[in-house]
Amino acid sequence: MIPIAGKYSTFAQFYDVMSGEYPVYRAGREIGIQKLRQPSGAQVLDVGCGTGLNFSLLQRQITPDGIIVGIDRSPEMLEQARRRAERNGWTNVILIQADATELSPTDIGSRITTQGGRSQSDAVLATYALSLMKDWETAWANIVSLAAPGASLCVVDMQKPVGLATALTPLARAACWLGGSDIDAHPWTAVERDCVDVMAASTRGGHLQIRSGTRTTDT
Ligand SMILES: C[S@@+](CC[C@H](N)C(=O)[O-])C[C@H]1O[C@@H](n2cnc3c(N)ncnc32)[C@H](O)[C@@H]1O
Repeated sequence: MIPIAGKYSTFAQFYDVMSGEYPVYRAGREIGIQKLRQPSGAQVLDVGCGTGLNFSLLQRQITPDGIIVGIDRSPEMLEQARRRAERNGWTNVILIQADATELSPTDIGSRITTQGGRSQSDAVLATYALSLMKDWETAWANIVSLAAPGASLCVVDMQKPVGLATALTPLARAACWLGGSDIDAHPWTAVERDCVDVMAASTRGGHLQIRSGTRTTDT
């Protein structure tokens, strides 16, 4: 069995076709990105950005002077993201290889500024990434440090389906197991705990949970 850390690197080239984007996971990212407040010229940080499946939706929302910063620990996933940016002629994408659970926000901030961005972002997004990280609470604390006070934060992640969709629980469990996610991690609870103006949504029988909110000055 391939260790989880290596899984995304090994299958990076095939991630987009294997990830169940349509008809399941696209819906969550669409809702999350709609809820992300992105003022004019906003810099959006995409944590665990993978191959950059969020980028086209983000590009539609940020103004031409906006910036996307993608962080991921897998160089192979970042390479796919880099190719996506190149293919589309997006020159406003900064990619940084780092482990979200171990990074130093000061170091990442200066790596972003060296590449023409700002050390703190106006909006931060994590889609289907935090539930993969054993120590997602530390990753969350790092994310918050990389967000400007008043920034918009959004987590999109997975749980067991609810209601009539409970019958699909084995499928949801299998998808999370294959991807290495902990279906019981519920990392969006950090948004509920640490943000104000929290908005909640869910789709696909409750399997996809979306929370957005505003970082307070004292978070
Ligand atoms: C399921 S993929 C999701 C990718 C993308 N966010 C999306 O919505 O398609 C999870 C991504 O998180 C990355 N990842 C996992 N643990 C990480 C960590 N500790 N720090 C940074 N990235 C991590 C993986 O390399 C992978 O690219």
